[in-house]
Amino acid sequence: MLHVLFVCLGNICRSPMAEAVFQQLVDEAGLADRIIVDSAGTASWHEGERADRRTLAVLRARGIPYDGRSRPVSLADLDRFAYLIAMDGQNLADLRRLDRTGALQGKLFRLLEFAPAGSPRDVPDPYYDNRFEYVYELVAAGCRGLLQAIRARHNL
Ligand code: 4NP
Repeated sequence: MLHVLFVCLGNICRSPMAEAVFQQLVDEAGLADRIIVDSAGTASWHEGERADRRTLAVLRARGIPYDGRSRPVSLADLDRFAYLIAMDGQNLADLRRLDRTGALQGKLFRLLEFAPAGSPRDVPDPYYDNRFEYVYELVAAGCRGLLQAIRARHNL
């Protein structure tokens, strides 16, 4: 079983969106029994909350279900997950700072590394500027590329 964790700051906007989109791609590919998908935040401010209503609206408009709740990333996650997928450079730096044992070696990526050439490096935080549709387009492109990369690497 391969575990994939999407990580952003609050775990209410970007990483839940990525989790939901990637889960749907995994389901459509018939890989739900091979790949476990989850998300978490580097901050615990929104722990226990549903995803932001604007993320839920973007997902609902595309028929993508999501009912997860925010949780902070834990040290155990760094061991358990085979892929930790950060939304931006700050998430990446925060995860690296948590990692005292080298558990993240070879497992930490930015989502948009997997998006087509010419994509931006970061999925921008939409919490204050409302760019949820734009964030969806980036997240969807990254998730498609990530699944392709995982399938190729693990012969799935
Ligand atoms: P996320 O967005 O990291 O994509 O979940 C944010 C959510 C909440 C806050 C910032 C970003 N906040 O400041 O509460």
